[in-house]
Amino acid sequence: MTEALLVDAHTDSTDSQQTAAASWWRQAAVYQIYPRSFADADGDGLGDLPGIRSRVDYLAELGIDAIWLSPFYPSALADGGYDVADYRDVDPRLGTLEDFDELIAALHERGIRVIVDIVPNHTSDLHEWFQEALAAGRGSAARDRYVFREGKGASGEEPPTDWESVFGGPAWERVEDGQWYFHNFATEQPDLNWDHPEVRADFLKTLRFWSDRGVDGFRIDVAHMLTKDLTEPLPSRAELERMPQDGTHPLLDRDDVHEVYAEWRRVFEEYDPPRTAVAEAWVSSPERRAKYASAEGLGQAFNFDLLEADFDAAEFRTVITDNLAQAAETGSSTTWVLSNHDVTRHATRYGLPPLAGRPVKQGTEWVAAGGPEADIDRDQGLRRARAATLLLLGLPGSTYLYQGEELGLQEVAAITAEQRQDPAFFRGGEYDGLGRDGCRVPLPWSADRPAFGFGGAVAHLPQPAWFAEYAVDVEAADPTSTLSLYREALRLRRLLQTEERLEWIETGRTDVIRFTRPNGWQVVTNFGTAPFPLPAEAGPVVLGALVDGEIAGASTVWIASPSLLE
Ligand code: GLC
Repeated sequence: MTEALLVDAHTDSTDSQQTAAASWWRQAAVYQIYPRSFADADGDGLGDLPGIRSRVDYLAELGIDAIWLSPFYPSALADGGYDVADYRDVDPRLGTLEDFDELIAALHERGIRVIVDIVPNHTSDLHEWFQEALAAGRGSAARDRYVFREGKGASGEEPPTDWESVFGGPAWERVEDGQWYFHNFATEQPDLNWDHPEVRADFLKTLRFWSDRGVDGFRIDVAHMLTKDLTEPLPSRAELERMPQDGTHPLLDRDDVHEVYAEWRRVFEEYDPPRTAVAEAWVSSPERRAKYASAEGLGQAFNFDLLEADFDAAEFRTVITDNLAQAAETGSSTTWVLSNHDVTRHATRYGLPPLAGRPVKQGTEWVAAGGPEADIDRDQGLRRARAATLLLLGLPGSTYLYQGEELGLQEVAAITAEQRQDPAFFRGGEYDGLGRDGCRVPLPWSADRPAFGFGGAVAHLPQPAWFAEYAVDVEAADPTSTLSLYREALRLRRLLQTEERLEWIETGRTDVIRFTRPNGWQVVTNFGTAPFPLPAEAGPVVLGALVDGEIAGASTVWIASPSLLE
C-alpha cells in the first residue's frame, strides 16, 4: 500500500520565480569543515586556510555542493573559534584574507559554494568592543553594547542572578570595578546587547563584508539566543526554567529576534544570487523552528531530529514525515544532520546501546567513562552509520555532512584532561563535562606520514594509532571503504536529484522503510537484523549491495532506472 506524502515545497510557481542559481541550497550536500582540524599547510599543528586550499581536489572528488567553514576568525580559542575577536578578518595562525580569497576562488572554480559561520550572540572578550567596555567603566556607552549589571549583596559581590551558563558554572562574571557581565557560554564569550543599534549595524557590515568577498551563505550560531528581555527584577534560574519558550522567554527563542533576521534578509537580497542562511536554533518545537526558516528570515534552519534519534525505523520515519510537512508549510527545504562539531560522531553513537529517550548529547556518558571497548560494537556503529547516511542522501532537502564522517571516523575518547581544549570539559554543564574534542581531532590523510599527513609533526589534538585504518589514502584505494561509498553516493545523488517530495512504500516490516522520489529513485533501509528480501519488481539496485537478493540488516540500497544515470 502506498501512502502519498503531502510534500510539495518546491512548486512550479516558485520555480519560475527563482533561478536555479538562487535555489542551489534547497537540496545541497554541504560539508562542514572545522578549519583548525582539517589540514595544516604550515605545519604548526593547527589546520589553516591554505591547508583547506591544498585539499580542494579532495572536496571536488567527494562530490559535495558546498562547504560550511566553522569560524576561522581571530580568536583566543576559548571555545574552538566560536569566541570571535574580529568578525572581518582571518586568524593569523590560519592565514590571511588573501588566503581566504584564494580558497574561495579555488572552490568556486570547481563549482563548490561556501558558507561561513556568523556568531552574533557573543563576541570574544578580546574583541575591541569588550576591551573598550572594560576600560570605559560602569555606565559607559561602551558597556551598553554588552550586558553589564550591578551585583547583589552589600557590596555587589553576588552575581545579579543565579543563572547558569550553557557550559556550566555561573553565567555572570565580575570585572575589576565590581560590575558583572552576562555570558550564556564561556566566560570569554560576553553576550552582546541586541537592543543596541551599533550591534545591529555592525553585523550588517559583517554580512556585507563576506558577501562582497563572494561568500554564498551563512550559518548562524545559536540563532535563537540574540535578543533578550532583561527588565528588572530578573527572574531566578528556577523561574526561568519554568517559563514557556513560546516567544516570550527572557533569553531564548524570542519573537523579536526575527526582526533582526528580517533586516539580514534585506541584505541577503541585495546580492545576486541572494545570499543564503541556515539557523542553528535549538528551539522547543518544529513550529518554532519554522520561523527561522521563513523566506523573510534566514530561509533555512537546522533540523537536529535525526541527530537526536535512535537508529530506529519508526523514529526515522516519523521525523522524516514531520519535517517534510513542516518544510512544505514554510516553503523552506529541510536539513538532515547526523554529526557536527558539537556531538559524538554517529559511527560511534550507533555502536552504543539505544538511547531510550535520553536527551540531546548522546554518547557523552560513554566518552566520559573513557570510551570502554566492552560497551561498544564498532562494526555495528559503522554499518548503521553508512546505512543512515545513504538514507539521508536520498531524502528531499539538504544534507549536512561533518568532516571525517566520509571516512567512517569514530569518536576519539582517549584524550587526557591536559590535552582537552573544549571549555565544556572544564566547566561541565549541558555537555556533561567531557567536551567535544573527540569529534574535532585532526583528520588522517595518510596512514604512514607524521600526524597522519595532517601537516606538521604533531596535531593540536592527539590522533590515536587506529586513525591509520581510516586514512584517506587507505580508503581511497579501497572500493569498499566508507570514502568510496560517500563518493559514489554523492555522484549518483547529483544524477538522481529530483523534486522535493517522497512517497512511502509499505514494506510489511516495522524495521524496514522504503520510499520513492517523483522520478522513481527509491531508497530502502533495513534498520533490523533479519535480511529483507527485495521484491523482484522493485527495480535495479544502483547503490548498496544485495546479498542473495536480500538487503542485509543495517543497510540501505538505492534503486533507480539506469536511464536516470545516463
Ligand atoms: C554553537 C556552536 C558551538 C559553540 C556555541 C557557542 O552551539 O555550534 O560549537 O560552542 O554555539 O558559540
